[in-house]
Amino acid sequence: MNNFTFYNPVKILFGKGQISAISKEIPAGAHVMVTYGGGSIKQNGVYDQVMEALKGFQVSEFGGIEPNPHYETLMKAVALAKEKKVDFFLAVGGGSVIDGTKFIVAAMAYEGEDPWDIMAKREPVTRAAPFGAVLTLPATGSEMNSGAVINRVSIKEKLSFGSPHTFPKFSVLDPETTFTLPVRQISNGVADAFSHVLEQYLTYPVNAPLQDRFAEAILLTLKEEGPKAVQNPQDYDTMANFMWAATMALNGVIRVGVPTDWATHYIAHELTALHGIDHARTLGIVFPALLRYKSETKKEKLLQYGERIWNVTSGTEDERLEATIQATIAFFESLDIKTRLSDYEVGEDTIHTIISRFEQRGVKDLGERADIQIQDVKEILLLSL
Ligand code: NZQ
Ligand code: ZN
Repeated sequence: MNNFTFYNPVKILFGKGQISAISKEIPAGAHVMVTYGGGSIKQNGVYDQVMEALKGFQVSEFGGIEPNPHYETLMKAVALAKEKKVDFFLAVGGGSVIDGTKFIVAAMAYEGEDPWDIMAKREPVTRAAPFGAVLTLPATGSEMNSGAVINRVSIKEKLSFGSPHTFPKFSVLDPETTFTLPVRQISNGVADAFSHVLEQYLTYPVNAPLQDRFAEAILLTLKEEGPKAVQNPQDYDTMANFMWAATMALNGVIRVGVPTDWATHYIAHELTALHGIDHARTLGIVFPALLRYKSETKKEKLLQYGERIWNVTSGTEDERLEATIQATIAFFESLDIKTRLSDYEVGEDTIHTIISRFEQRGVKDLGERADIQIQDVKEILLLSL
């Protein structure tokens, strides 16, 4: 097992009715800015529950944060929050609202010229305003991690950042808030969380059986509960299990002491930036191609994954590898997530665009072995056509 340090300070308030408990988590006398998306929280009663819980605090709000949150919009929130002297933020929504709020709190305290440099130049975040979250879409794990992905539409760039200062102080996970999710977002959430586990598990063995089995437990839970969630999004127990599995998939627990990949996410973000394809769907395109391209160097873990998750036990090694990749594709497709670029009418010209952007950005050494170079990215994307 590799050396590691593990730090996760996020307090989780899990279960029905927990929104009412947030007032105890926010400093008395705080001026709270509630951030949210396009309005789903006003239709499903979550907004009303939050406002009820915030009685007694001074409250401002900022709505309209888009899916794949726009830097341009978030900068408006920063200006408004500074003007109103906001000192606590409450993100209410899915990963985009929570990520957007992480950027807002980091940008509030940023002393350089343009907070975009937090992503573009990897400028360190040294301070940030405190914030909490009320999660309404199990998927990203943003509610219990310190990362965020921000989209600058004017230049079609989608870049990430993370800092020990951008963990939420607390997150409410009330499965009832997910009951209004459209099927497409549930499928996306299952596929995103499943991919998060694969990025941290499908690498190479370092004799870390506990991390492997934690990862496999999350994969099996998503495999079982995911299809049920799509079928019956108002079943409390199903949504509770899905919600906690998605949080556990990316809160740092399964990452400790093991190599991680993340090349699929890095490449896939380009497809959202260039074509607006949902994050999870871009993973469905890139992951199978990457696994096929890297099946030799990922062989041991792929075979273990095939056997323990998909019951692939017979055939030659090559046959088992292929059957495992096919089972993964079938899982994505069963969630109605298409797995080829052509399914989204994206062609080879996009691959050329991504390659030239990566050349400009100086991208190199992706993957758990730092052996995926720009030429390999091209081969992977060609396999996904
Ligand atoms: O905007 P509203 O009206 O709220 O509607 C949203 C949005 O249209 C809707 N929705 C959310 N909760 C709902 C609901 N509709 C009905 N009922 C509810 N309870 O769902 C739509 C999508 O929301 P969004 O927040 O964009 O989805 P998701 O949670 O999948 O987040 C995706 C973003 O997270 C980033 C992605 O790149 C993408 O930008 N990621 C963040 C990560 C992190 N911070 O660790 C890791 C991930 O890999 C990912 O990259
Ligand atoms: Zn993801």
